[in-house]
Amino acid sequence: MPALQSLADRISLISESSTMKVAADADRLRREGVDVVDFSAGEPDFPTPENIKQAAIRAIQENFTKYTPVSGTVELKQAICDRHKSNYGTAYQAKECVVTVGGKHACFNLMQALVNPGDEVIIPVPYWVTYKDIVNYAGGKCVFVDTDEDAGFALTAAMVERNLSPRTRAIILNSPSNPSGAAFSRAELDRIVRLCKDRGVWVITDECYDRFLYYEEPYSLAAMPDVKETVIVAGSLSKTYAMTGWRLGFVLAPAPVIAGVNKLQSHTTSNPTSISQKAAIEALRGPQESVTAMLAEYRTRRDYVIERLRKIPGVKAQEPQGAFYAYPNVSAAYRNGISNSLQFAEKLLAEEHVAVVPGEAFGTNDHIRLSYATSMQELARGLDRLERFIIAHT
Ligand SMILES: Cc1ncc(COP(=O)(O)O)c(C=O)c1O
Repeated sequence: MPALQSLADRISLISESSTMKVAADADRLRREGVDVVDFSAGEPDFPTPENIKQAAIRAIQENFTKYTPVSGTVELKQAICDRHKSNYGTAYQAKECVVTVGGKHACFNLMQALVNPGDEVIIPVPYWVTYKDIVNYAGGKCVFVDTDEDAGFALTAAMVERNLSPRTRAIILNSPSNPSGAAFSRAELDRIVRLCKDRGVWVITDECYDRFLYYEEPYSLAAMPDVKETVIVAGSLSKTYAMTGWRLGFVLAPAPVIAGVNKLQSHTTSNPTSISQKAAIEALRGPQESVTAMLAEYRTRRDYVIERLRKIPGVKAQEPQGAFYAYPNVSAAYRNGISNSLQFAEKLLAEEHVAVVPGEAFGTNDHIRLSYATSMQELARGLDRLERFIIAHT
């Protein structure tokens, strides 16, 4: 019998998601009765809109509670394609769509379906924590590309080109970005997609925050002409419709990629929850005002957070162009027992009871991530404490 402690090698290729670990630490303190201000959560603080909830209740009452096709119902896949078309002018058909158990599942399945051991996957830094682990889990090699912080974490085609090799299989783009809130320049994105097309490299565009852009009109790389064989969309309803717990995401891609993802899904999760699928149809086909209202609220909070951060001595804060995260550079406070972002976050939680995610989870050591998907009152309380902490440590 194998020893109890002997796990498969591949499980050591990944580590626990640090964003979830911070949330768990904060939660533990809270249960001990500590007044914690939590800036770690990567989810909207708004409730799921009422019309979406009612659709789910109806699904239960009408006994829509059984298996559906593995890739989701045709009705939902069509609703996803129609919403994408009406938002961005794309022309996907239901057979080019698979519904997944959240956007994370979409990204995971794609890596499993596309990446061979030894293949390289380009990941701009800072990156969403999960990309690294799912590339590693597929046996791939992450090629990290630094962005230009002083230019708002900008990524250029030249930066990408320098890192391409004959083994490059894919690039993962996430604009607007978790954790920086950066939106890459459209002209550069166009160049990057063209470059990847020429070199036979997949472009995976993670559109998790696609509707939350503060200056530009939302767009999709999949809407560029003649890129259907290059661009793959990983989408999610989690943030757009405040549906994080419902676990609903999707992939839009050429039919052979969809077939690969579907095969994997047929032996793992099978279909996403039937009830969530009905709710998703209502989210996508019903009124979209809630999305606009959330964006307006995030904008107000972003302005407040950035203004406050920039007033703290030594803190450098780029203005987020989208999503709901600020990613300030706090390295000026790395002294007196703090020498990295992990220690900064741990001490901040221990001394001031403010939970943030250390930048090292996202590939940079000088930053912390603050989610402003929380009330203005909590933002004010937490920023007061953060300010006091930084002043005390510098
Ligand atoms: C960049 C990015 N992609 C994908 C996801 C996945 O979200 P979900 O699995 O809840 O749809 C997240 C969630 O935090 C994210 O930040």
